[in-house]
Amino acid sequence: MDYHDLLARLGEGSAHPGGFSATMQLLDALSLPAGLHVLEIGCGTGRTACHLARQGNQVTAIDLHRHMLDKAVRRARKERVDVRFIQADATALPLPSNRVDVVFIESVTIFTPWRKSLSEYARVLKPGGLLVDREMVLSGRKTELMSRRLRRFYGIRTLATVATWKKRLRGSGFSNVAVKEQSRTMGKWGVDHDPLREIDMNWLEDEQVQQMSRTNDQLLMRYGNRLGYAVFTARVPVEAEAK
Ligand SMILES: C[S@@+](CC[C@H](N)C(=O)[O-])C[C@H]1O[C@@H](n2cnc3c(N)ncnc32)[C@H](O)[C@@H]1O
Repeated sequence: MDYHDLLARLGEGSAHPGGFSATMQLLDALSLPAGLHVLEIGCGTGRTACHLARQGNQVTAIDLHRHMLDKAVRRARKERVDVRFIQADATALPLPSNRVDVVFIESVTIFTPWRKSLSEYARVLKPGGLLVDREMVLSGRKTELMSRRLRRFYGIRTLATVATWKKRLRGSGFSNVAVKEQSRTMGKWGVDHDPLREIDMNWLEDEQVQQMSRTNDQLLMRYGNRLGYAVFTARVPVEAEAK
């Protein structure tokens, strides 16, 4: 069992810094018009995707993890909203180029080979389309051991500063790169009540789950003060249309 299996079994509805209330605040601040084609990448159990659909958007939501998606599909059914869920990898999006108005991501790109993912985000966005990505960032000193441990337990493949992420986004063809929100600490998540949360109760007492929960606490205690998060926004330049 890896970290994402654990999240899937726990049915965590907003597994990112700030939780669902931070997502709501972010969407408020973005004030996107309704009726957009939004692609959520790494949608987890689908809480945000369902919210975006309820707001009148056409939503496609992808995730690599089958168990997450099964919970997301059941959530959408219960909420009676229409979301197109697809099991897919952020690095190989099953969508044609220039297709979506907004790519929305929370706490996913750090688990992927970032070059491939960022270039896929840029590819599927229409010219002028908006990328919104909330990711964990490095806010203190990074050591080899720290990177290795965070990679082994969480599957984090890249730990970078805000400045490095901005450079990466520009290097991947995005313009208007901005930091919408930034924090030197990870803040809390998992604190919002999710009325449709589905927990696999039979796993809660499992020794492996208990051990993973202890390791998670130890890692956060040891490295939490060097980890923060940021929300990046960026656009695909309109001139890309001519290419
Ligand atoms: C920390 S969770 C965040 C889930 C959701 N965005 C949220 O905020 O609740 C990371 C999610 O990314 C998914 N994921 C990890 N690597 C992925 C990849 N390469 N492609 C698509 N999804 C991926 C995991 O399955 C998991 O659902």
